[in-house]
Amino acid sequence: MIDLTGKVALVTGSSRGIGAATAIKLAEAGADLVINYASSQGPAEEIASKINKIGRKAIVLQANVANFDEAKSLIKKTKKEFGKLDILVNNAGITNDKLLLRMKEDDWDQVIDINLKGVFNTTKSAARYLMKSEAGRIINLSSVVGLMGNAGQANYAAAKAGILGLTKSTARELAVRGVTANVVAPGFIETDMTENLPENVKAEMLSNIPANRFGKVDEVANLIVFLASPLAQYINGQVINVDGGMLM
Ligand SMILES: NC(=O)c1ccc[n+]([C@@H]2O[C@H](COP(=O)([O-])OP(=O)(O)OC[C@H]3O[C@@H](n4cnc5c(N)ncnc54)[C@H](OP(=O)(O)O)[C@@H]3O)[C@@H](O)[C@H]2O)c1
Repeated sequence: MIDLTGKVALVTGSSRGIGAATAIKLAEAGADLVINYASSQGPAEEIASKINKIGRKAIVLQANVANFDEAKSLIKKTKKEFGKLDILVNNAGITNDKLLLRMKEDDWDQVIDINLKGVFNTTKSAARYLMKSEAGRIINLSSVVGLMGNAGQANYAAAKAGILGLTKSTARELAVRGVTANVVAPGFIETDMTENLPENVKAEMLSNIPANRFGKVDEVANLIVFLASPLAQYINGQVINVDGGMLM
């Protein structure tokens, strides 16, 4: 039984999709939550109210994680509200797919800034608080695309691959203070991010998934909750796929 009673967790991008499912599952395990969003205030507040109904505390904070000052302030407000931070889940992410020949500098910068620099921004700001936790946890969302590449996603693949190096370096630096940092790499999960992909792209993806189906947000959230728990204290610097066997 996973028990996170007394822990405080921040999940970036938890208004929707994998982040929202993760926030709810962390609360079900006993944690209090910071729900972060970029623009979806209403959905973020709905997630917080679901968490309140579970009996846990939740606050909602808007912040663009790509902006260093906003990310720093997100962490500061968390500390001010709860007095500490035990679990940081870097989930916020976007795609902006184009073939390399058509990709503009802005398309590259936007995806790298949110998906990769955003992880640096929150992790750097949170590290001192996580080190004070009895068992600090950092869980970063990458993707199988960061491990294998994907046509049309050079920016996204580069950001998600960058997360591996950032996480492993963080794991090495903070291990001595009892903080672990791990990567969760989902395959194709049914969320807003994947909903609008062309049917032929979805069919091609499906043909490469031995499980013969797309993943559910809860299937990713379950692993994140485990990694956040005391059961995972000796797991550090790892990359774990949740992809129905897509990449093995
Ligand atoms: N779905 C998949 O198949 C899949 C596969 C592999 C990896 N992943 C990764 O898993 C994570 C979650 O994906 P998802 O499918 O759940 O995405 P999603 O449904 O599109 O939700 C994205 C979340 O990130 C937030 N966000 C976007 N930009 C932000 C910013 N600049 N600052 C703060 N929050 C921001 C969004 O907030 P707003 O609601 O305010 O916009 C939203 O809560 C991402 O890192 C993604 O790359 C997903």
